[in-house]
Amino acid sequence: MKQQIVRCTQIEKDLAQILREWSYDGLFLLTDENTHKLCLPLLEPVPEIRLAKSIIIPAGDEHKNIQTLSNVWEFLSQNGANRKSLLMNLGGGMLTDLGGFAAATFKRGIRFINIPTTLLGAVDAAVGGKTGINFKGLKNEIGAFAPALAVLIDSNFFKTLDHTNLLSGYAEMLKHALLCGGDGRDVARHVSTPDNQLNEILRFDFEKIDYQKLNDLLFESVKVKERIVEQDPTEQGIRKALNLGHTFGHAFESLSYEINRPVPHGYAVAWGTVCELYLSFIKWGFDKNCLLKITRFVKENYGTFAFDCSQYQHLYELMQHDKKNESGLINFTLLKAIGEIEINQTASQREIDETLDFYREYFGFQ
Ligand code: GLY
Repeated sequence: MKQQIVRCTQIEKDLAQILREWSYDGLFLLTDENTHKLCLPLLEPVPEIRLAKSIIIPAGDEHKNIQTLSNVWEFLSQNGANRKSLLMNLGGGMLTDLGGFAAATFKRGIRFINIPTTLLGAVDAAVGGKTGINFKGLKNEIGAFAPALAVLIDSNFFKTLDHTNLLSGYAEMLKHALLCGGDGRDVARHVSTPDNQLNEILRFDFEKIDYQKLNDLLFESVKVKERIVEQDPTEQGIRKALNLGHTFGHAFESLSYEINRPVPHGYAVAWGTVCELYLSFIKWGFDKNCLLKITRFVKENYGTFAFDCSQYQHLYELMQHDKKNESGLINFTLLKAIGEIEINQTASQREIDETLDFYREYFGFQ
């Protein structure tokens, strides 16, 4: 089922219209402590929202677990939710992932709407039907593919995001711009030309944020993801393109937690993207000038994550445990050029070490 993605002009009107379009028996609203306080007031003019049964969960990825999920199931069950009920998820990626999974599993599946309140949530988590929770220390270990009925995106929510949260979401937009045009078949006909989208992304000024511009870029970006997911909703093939930057990225993110210097997901993805473009350069001849342009952009905006060569082996081991791997081989998505995607790529330990050397040299801490 295709998700309806709504670019909101006035969220209360757009939401009221969606709720009028769909018949349901019982409306439920899932928020966390923060979105309940800061985001829900924007929806309160909608009469149905004031009548919805409200579940509030604790904020933070550490609560994206079986206990919180069980609390949501229990609430739905005790408050008379049935197969025709509708759940609205108002929050960031943690909340839409968990709420989507609660909906996907309650009574074998009820319908849900996502209203992302972070840039990262809007550009990635809320769109594309991946839902789930963390389990036994493993991220998104339990989950299901279940598309939301609709995803309502209102960039007014992003105006209160701090710089770090904005940049974290923006890294996924950079990734989408690199993939733009590249499903091997027809993405290019539907979105702006690949070079334009990437150049616009690289030109964006975070010192003087133009929210209208950010909104335009966000919707181009969401379209790229939508087109890819439409062709491969359950990630058997081309959807793996969306993993660009995430193999190195997850290793950096895991290492950052181990050494008590945690970095936001999007920052790790930005550094991971640089590394995977370098691998693309050595293995597929990806354009070096483009690689250096993106490296400069990432360094200027995201700073660096410092490590030394004694940590190469551990980073390699973290990549060996990545859940995207198949047949014991580390799995990468690489690019021959912007939009020319090569999924199911692997690399030797020597190539990975060389990539980490490049990263340390260009980020200036060798
Ligand atoms: N976050 C990547 C995907 O949705 O496939």
